[in-house]
Amino acid sequence: MILSMSEMYTKHAIRYAEAVKENIYNALFERPSTLSLLDNVKGKDVIDMGCGSGVYAEWLIKQSVNRLTCVDVSEQMISLIKKNLGTKVNAYKQDISFGLPYENNNSADVIVSPLVLHYIENLKPVFESVYRVLKPGGYMVFSMHHPFTDFKYSQSSHYFERESIEEEWDTIGFPVSVRFYRRSLTEISEAITSSGLMISKISEGTLDEKAKQINQKIYSYLKNNPNFIFIRCEKSTR
Ligand SMILES: C[S@@+](CC[C@H](N)C(=O)[O-])C[C@H]1O[C@@H](n2cnc3c(N)ncnc32)[C@H](O)[C@@H]1O
Repeated sequence: MILSMSEMYTKHAIRYAEAVKENIYNALFERPSTLSLLDNVKGKDVIDMGCGSGVYAEWLIKQSVNRLTCVDVSEQMISLIKKNLGTKVNAYKQDISFGLPYENNNSADVIVSPLVLHYIENLKPVFESVYRVLKPGGYMVFSMHHPFTDFKYSQSSHYFERESIEEEWDTIGFPVSVRFYRRSLTEISEAITSSGLMISKISEGTLDEKAKQINQKIYSYLKNNPNFIFIRCEKSTR
């Protein structure tokens, strides 16, 4: 069955929400690695950009954040969040290719954006908006496909040229076709720093050892290959 990327997060939103709760890639690798780049978020005003079904939102609420805003281009994902978390979050549909036009200047302490930016063609408007919306001293933490991993699927073999890639993933129990952008580390870094943000941490993640008992093949792959990249960037206090 071949479906478009948007169907993974629209038509199959409920299946996706279930799959990412406890799987290796998300629950034992991506989430712990992204969360390790956050400071204590208690009392903070947080935006979850590309929030999906709300696994991060649930965690953030448990940490007693002050205000939580969740945006996603998928209406189905926003409906799931509203159904599950109600008035604890301000959730609305937004294509972040256009940034965060409904958010005020200097209004967020923290912005998270896990596994979303590889779906965005031009990252510059995203980081410009993040810079505008963050309070001075605020920061953003995000994860995305590692540029070296995606280069394996390149048709062009031109590492420095951005490229649209299509792959089939088994995330929800059957193959679904997804389309995303592959780009160089230089392009990611320049989109961040040209907005005024400063990169303070880059990591390639740490796999939870529990993965070994669940699937030796995936465990071994993630232990020995780059897969996602995790970046923290800051808006200076001045
Ligand atoms: C891999 S899921 C990650 C969801 C969530 N951040 C998580 O880690 O569980 C990617 C999400 O990005 C959203 N997305 C893709 N393109 C987007 C865009 N242009 N604007 C906003 N959200 C987008 C999808 O709808 C989907 O919910």
